[in-house]
Amino acid sequence: MLVNFKDILNEAYINHYAVGSFNGYNYETFKGIIDAGCETKTPVILAFGAKYLKNMSLETACAIAKSLGERSDLPVCLHLDHCSDLDTVFRAIRAGFGSVMYDGSALPFDENVNNTKLVCDIAHACGVSVEGELGCLAAGERSHEGAATDVEAYTDPALAEQFVDMTHVDALAISIGTVHGLYKAEPNIRIDILEAINKLLAIPLVLHGGSGLSEKDILCCIAKGIAKINVNTEISVYAVDKTKELLADQQPHFSELSLYQVRYVKDIVRKYISFFDQR
Ligand code: 13P
Repeated sequence: MLVNFKDILNEAYINHYAVGSFNGYNYETFKGIIDAGCETKTPVILAFGAKYLKNMSLETACAIAKSLGERSDLPVCLHLDHCSDLDTVFRAIRAGFGSVMYDGSALPFDENVNNTKLVCDIAHACGVSVEGELGCLAAGERSHEGAATDVEAYTDPALAEQFVDMTHVDALAISIGTVHGLYKAEPNIRIDILEAINKLLAIPLVLHGGSGLSEKDILCCIAKGIAKINVNTEISVYAVDKTKELLADQQPHFSELSLYQVRYVKDIVRKYISFFDQR
């Protein structure tokens, strides 16, 4: 069943667990993520990043998600991840995405507010949920999201409160010390900042840069208001490593390769789900 993310995130936020938002960009990733959700009976978010428009169109992503998601009772949300282009956000809403992330985090505060508010007005009128972002994550190793030049800027709690009041986003992505990609050193997660933001906002908060976080850090963040956690790099690293191992050992038919890859994605997504949802 395809849903928008508001209902699944609000429930996660109230009941202290997190919904995994896993990056997908082809049939194998979408199927592996949904299979992991079905096996664990856990709602999942299929995060199709605007950068993966080279892999498939918004309409194709929507058709695959619909075809796979509508066959099960599992709540599945097709979400547009990290999009800084307003036209693409509006095309995703038209195509049938259940939620969109407008990423204006690189813009001055006022411009980020104005654009995010415009997206919220239109998306909400269409029954689509919106994630905004304030603050900037640094880029770790093998990151597909941030640039190596990205300078980390923690989210300011007072600005976050203003941002949510002015835009009416359904969820806010914040920067508290996680990085996009693999960690080069022990992450230093600023739980104090998260706690301050959560006290002021009381809406589901989003943690980007889920790859490589320890179970302990994840649980700590969930306890303080994180209700959506994004994972991209580790799914890719795991699936590529397993594919290499397979090809070193066997010569599968190309069609079988696809089946193996669905399983690799499912296995690594299940690991994260077991951290995120321990009800
Ligand atoms: P990682 O690649 O670090 O898991 O981050 C993913 C992400 O935040 C997608 O928006």
